[in-house]
Amino acid sequence: MSYKAEYERSMNDPEGFWKEKAEALQWYTFPETILSKDEHGIYRWFADGELNTAYMALDYHVEQGRGEQVAIIYDSPVSNTKAQVTYAELLNQVAKTAGMLRDLGVGKGDRVVIYMPMMVEAVVGMLATARLGAVHSVVFGGFAPPELAVRLEDAQPKVILSASCGIEISRVIEYKPLLDKAIELSSHKPQACVIFQRPQASSPLIEGRDYDWAQQVAQAEPAACVPVKGTDPLYILYTSGTTGKPKGVVRENGGHAVALNYSMQAIYNVGIGDVFWAASDVGWVVGHSYIVYAPLIRGCTTVVYEGKPIMTPDAGAFWRVCDEYGVKALFTAPTAFRAIKKEDAHGEFFKKYDLSKLQTIFSAGERLDPPSQEWLMEKSGKPVIDHWWQTETGWGITANLQGIEPMPIKLGSSTMPTPGFNVQILDEAGQQLKNGEQGYIALKLPLPPACLATVWGNVDKFKESYLSTFEGYYASGDGGYIDQDGYVFVMGRVDDVINVAGHRLSTGEMEEIIGSHTVVAECAVVGRDDDLKGQIPIGLVVLKSGVEIDEASLSKELVTMIRNSIGAIACYKDTYIVKRLPKTRSGKILRKNMRQMINGENYVVPSTIDDPGIMPEIEALLRERGVIRS
Ligand code: COA
Ligand code: AMP
Repeated sequence: MSYKAEYERSMNDPEGFWKEKAEALQWYTFPETILSKDEHGIYRWFADGELNTAYMALDYHVEQGRGEQVAIIYDSPVSNTKAQVTYAELLNQVAKTAGMLRDLGVGKGDRVVIYMPMMVEAVVGMLATARLGAVHSVVFGGFAPPELAVRLEDAQPKVILSASCGIEISRVIEYKPLLDKAIELSSHKPQACVIFQRPQASSPLIEGRDYDWAQQVAQAEPAACVPVKGTDPLYILYTSGTTGKPKGVVRENGGHAVALNYSMQAIYNVGIGDVFWAASDVGWVVGHSYIVYAPLIRGCTTVVYEGKPIMTPDAGAFWRVCDEYGVKALFTAPTAFRAIKKEDAHGEFFKKYDLSKLQTIFSAGERLDPPSQEWLMEKSGKPVIDHWWQTETGWGITANLQGIEPMPIKLGSSTMPTPGFNVQILDEAGQQLKNGEQGYIALKLPLPPACLATVWGNVDKFKESYLSTFEGYYASGDGGYIDQDGYVFVMGRVDDVINVAGHRLSTGEMEEIIGSHTVVAECAVVGRDDDLKGQIPIGLVVLKSGVEIDEASLSKELVTMIRNSIGAIACYKDTYIVKRLPKTRSGKILRKNMRQMINGENYVVPSTIDDPGIMPEIEALLRERGVIRS
């Protein structure tokens, strides 16, 4: 099968194409309706099919005789622990944990928030929730209490699953005080919290609300799988948009299972028994899709790695794991490769390990910069494939299909649209641009299975955020172009979202926090290009008149505020006090121009600028301070 034939079939006969892909899975009731529109006029996949995602990921494999195959390899250099869990063992743990959740009152459609580090129990919690037909919402462990509180408020969970601590390179982070603080901040209170006590920290439990994970599971009876509809939600995952409030992306059971299973064969070329490693975190979409659901639905062995690419203990960590477990496909973010390259520029660590089983390295989360891609291909001797992703889609929008027809790699391009995705480049008016012309990347509707069909509890927000910019299209928020050969180049966000070490963050949210400081009149946060993390935020602040504060003290206070409100992962460090911010006459701050200026790019100031003298003034200041790259 050629890429062209596969792709064209997905465009010309989407229902036939996806019906066939759905047949690869074990449904309770196979869907008669493949694609339909709901009462809000939104496309939905497999509306009348009945399934259970946890059944497809576990019970089905055990029924097929794969019970003794390893489902999860847990490798945690930060806690010095390694373990392997077979499909049969994982099924047993998940069924009992589901029993525990059921005993705590969780049923179909109820929400369970999971705030945990990278440990097997986080995966168990997700699958146990899915087993009951309930809806999980995993919150990345690096988020501070106010971020967790916003998600509790929105998702209204009955139960929260957590652990006593996470382990970073240099410190143990106790989760329980963060969880308690978040519950205090949220007007919604959960009925129960279940805490997994790790040996590195023991959390005191609040009587009547908190339970010990191990004790509760030991008492529980296994729960059976609860059938759900194809369009019933499997999970909510919050992601940063342009406003301070994150959006709850809703993933539906049917389309998700079908698309993910297909992607394992088509994009990653892995099958039953292969070892697949997505070096991410279960708190991000890559973790949901490719640490948990896709590899297990496909019958692979997945690696749960609690560590970093460097410093745990060195820049050979990834290659050690690939060697030790015979990883066939590795998937991570460019920032990890850049960190490895910085520590091991000559690639000495590659030579220490046997990477003969590793076939392909995949990258996503931000654009893979050509120098890092070239370096990695040279040192590893493997194809390094960039593919473009969003939390909203749940899987690669563009990719180089290793299981269909591998295409020549073009540096800087995430290759071609994945079957099902109709990728177009539009101008501001929604007109299609020619190949080579840069514009807004939009996806013509219908989106393929697994993509979001709503924002949790707010279909209008979904329509307004994604469907209203270009009639008949999903607006991706990314800009780029398609070249003469049909290769897609994604060049970056066209909105106020930035990408810090593969973590998607909102500059608008940081501005809200900085703006709440008593001395700040107004501010702008923009992304500065960074050799390691891709982008890091910097703040430009105008002080209220009459206020006296030195820049260093203000900067320190703002760093603390951002760390306490969003988390250390925001990597906010630098604040510059400026006299004024450049604005249009209607008062819109020219953030894009400032971003271009800071990154040493050419910029064209709009004719509507209020005071043309401001940009040169800020530019001179930032040049003097060494902020602007030449
Ligand atoms: N819980 C608590 N804190 C966390 C955390 C977590 N799960 N993850 C990160 N942090 C903290 C770190 O300890 C650090 O705190 P510090 O400023 O007090 O030192 C801060 O957040 C920034 O962390 P990070 O971005 O991980 O930077 P780093 O300098 O510690 O490590 C890299 C740099 C490149 C090794 C690291 O960013 C990395 O592994 N990136 C890969 C990212 C990735 O996999 N993304 C997934 C998307 S596919
Ligand atoms: P997230 O929702 O956290 O997965 O972040 C999605 C955003 O990350 C996209 O909108 C892009 O801006 C960026 N992104 C992800 N993968 C790529 C890629 N391969 N190339 C360019 N940008 C990417």
